[in-house]
Amino acid sequence: MNGGSGLVIVPSMLAADQSRLGEECRALAAAGADRVQWDVMDGRFVPAITVGPDVVAACRRVTDLPFEAHLMVEDPDEAAPHFVRAGCDLVIVHAEACRHLHRTLTGIRSLGARAGVALNPHTPVDTIAHVLDLTDLVLVMTVNPGFGGQEYLPAMEPKIAAVRAVIDRHGAPIELEVDGGITDVTIRRAAAAGAGVFISGSWLSRHPAGRAAAIAELRAAARQSIGARA
Ligand code: DX5
Repeated sequence: MNGGSGLVIVPSMLAADQSRLGEECRALAAAGADRVQWDVMDGRFVPAITVGPDVVAACRRVTDLPFEAHLMVEDPDEAAPHFVRAGCDLVIVHAEACRHLHRTLTGIRSLGARAGVALNPHTPVDTIAHVLDLTDLVLVMTVNPGFGGQEYLPAMEPKIAAVRAVIDRHGAPIELEVDGGITDVTIRRAAAAGAGVFISGSWLSRHPAGRAAAIAELRAAARQSIGARA
């Protein structure tokens, strides 16, 4: 696990072949993915409906690649325990779906998983100001949630930098993840702004040279930008 200091490439399972998810997890592990993200959508918080915990649990049985769950759901308190039991050791909830975010994060950690907070493009950084001691990852959405294949929002870069400053001031090893429209080009911008964990779905899965090449390219591009940041 990255622990807040490393560079992490996380393919999104949303872009995987949905008819072969177990094999896809194994192929992504072999291709060098650090972990994979399950985009969990309930058709209410976002229009689409995707995978449930049973699918994740079935894939858990065929790979030891770490799993994270990105809960784009109206009721994260209800959903989180199911995805921890299914084998996710990191559960990311949307601040916008949490009436009591402090309690929700406490609950995820009490289940033995790491807890992450996702911020939609409109949501201010201050939202996490009083829950940093309960947070293992902050996800700055670089698209509006609900669909793969969208355009990266460069307007989120000042927000990435602001979250980086908050995390560095806080001092604990909190990962800064970005999700949405991450390619070999946009990853450089997001890394330069302060991100260290990168979700990629469409670009990675469609790379003409395959997923290992895509992951290597993303890692090299991010490393260059992070190096220049230091
Ligand atoms: C949006 C999803 C997507 C997905 C990545 O709700 O979270 O961002 O994971 O999709 P791409 O990489 O295709 O933008």
